[in-house]
Amino acid sequence: MIDRFFSQTRPKQGEDAETIKLGRIPSHIAIIMDGNGRWAKKKGLPRVAGHREGMKVINRVVEKADEIGVKYLTLYAFSTENWKRPKTEVDFLMKLPERFLGNELPKLQKNNVKVRVMGDKNLLPSHTSRAVDKAVEETKHNTGIVLNFALNYGSRHELMQAVRTLCEEVEAGKRSALDIDENVLSERLLSSGLPDPDLLIRTSGEIRLSNFMLWQLAYSEFWFTDVLWPDFGEDDLMEAVHIYQTRKRRYGGV
Ligand code: FPP
Repeated sequence: MIDRFFSQTRPKQGEDAETIKLGRIPSHIAIIMDGNGRWAKKKGLPRVAGHREGMKVINRVVEKADEIGVKYLTLYAFSTENWKRPKTEVDFLMKLPERFLGNELPKLQKNNVKVRVMGDKNLLPSHTSRAVDKAVEETKHNTGIVLNFALNYGSRHELMQAVRTLCEEVEAGKRSALDIDENVLSERLLSSGLPDPDLLIRTSGEIRLSNFMLWQLAYSEFWFTDVLWPDFGEDDLMEAVHIYQTRKRRYGGV
């Protein structure tokens, strides 16, 4: 049970939103939504049933995060490595954005949610990129919580591309290598414009980053839970935030 090793104190079940609000709220929460396949297997269902159920959790989490004052929520929906999965599963995963946004876009609009996507869009099927482009376009003026989907995202690829772009700029004489500092590099990443995550959550008991926001998570607080993503609920989010509020962030200082 990893919770025992990673939680300093455990909040009461159903931690009250008002209590949480009195503490420090993480401005940006990033989540590795893991365990859909195991959830389905436990129930004797095909893996895709876990993904379908996992998609349903997203709304609840966005609404709760918004309610307590989180400003940015990044969800790891598909990694550059996930193409290695069986074609039927990849095809199903590629249908989820249009299914989710098709159903939920009016509600996201009503709640002033701004949809963003980070990842290499070139490899996405056209029906997937059309759905996400539409959501990004239609919500671009919204001023509420930013819901950022990491879709066909891989952090090493992102860093490699950023380095390549900067090298090209240096080669073209547009900048000197000495100008390149952390801010310049950050601006070339797919997360440009977003603050670094304050809190990373990973579900399903796995304790690794799986090529997710390696640069951006340098000083984030991590919280791992055994809960499988389709079972993740508002209480789990509140528990993560509660534990975040007990952590002392020193950013290398004392
Ligand atoms: C990891 O679980 C999960 C994924 C690779 C996909 C996550 C996607 C969603 C939750 C839905 C996305 C929805 C939208 C709208 C983009 P796993 O399959 O690796 O689980 P396992 O480790 O138990 O096999």
